[in-house]
Amino acid sequence: MRTVISADELRTGIASLARRLEAHYQGQPVTIVGLLNGSLLILGDLVRELRIPVEYDTLRVSAYRGEATTAGAVLVEVGHVPPVRGRHLLLLDDILDTGATLHAVTELARGWGALSVRTAVLLWKRDRTRAGFLPDEYIREIPDVFVVGYGLDYNRQYRQLPQIVEFDPSIPAARQGLPS
Ligand code: XMP
Repeated sequence: MRTVISADELRTGIASLARRLEAHYQGQPVTIVGLLNGSLLILGDLVRELRIPVEYDTLRVSAYRGEATTAGAVLVEVGHVPPVRGRHLLLLDDILDTGATLHAVTELARGWGALSVRTAVLLWKRDRTRAGFLPDEYIREIPDVFVVGYGLDYNRQYRQLPQIVEFDPSIPAARQGLPS
């Protein structure tokens, strides 16, 4: 198993993101909206680390379908609008790859009446991101490798791993040291 980010490094990275968010929002009302399913684990860990009052919500979004490891259309759940009027909104995702997902959700969220709309991601594949879209906050930059664990999946598997590991779908999972 090739670990890209260990559980300890995740804890440290989330703690420093929390400190940056505390300094940025200065106690103003903020709602963190985590994009499901990938951001579920970081959302839970981040809100418990924050020392400012915070609300959280989720939005179901998918960019990858089934076993594909290349981006498909971005699908955003319809019918749920997080109540963020008069509050700062931070959109949280597990990974920024091409930027299509967060870009689409940011555009949508601008109509929700928040005081501000910003983005935070755990991982950023900077070299793959199309020009003009940057995350406001990120924890770690990674090269263009497919990764799973800590919320990130391959075909709905491996989200539960406490660390982030490289994954090659062309090699049997057991040979990569992953449960199969
Ligand atoms: P975009 O291209 O829209 O992609 O920025 C964001 C979404 O793509 C998925 N993604 C990955 N999922 N390992 C994964 O498990 C990866 O290496 C990876 N790269 C992108 C992810 O769902 C994210 O929300």
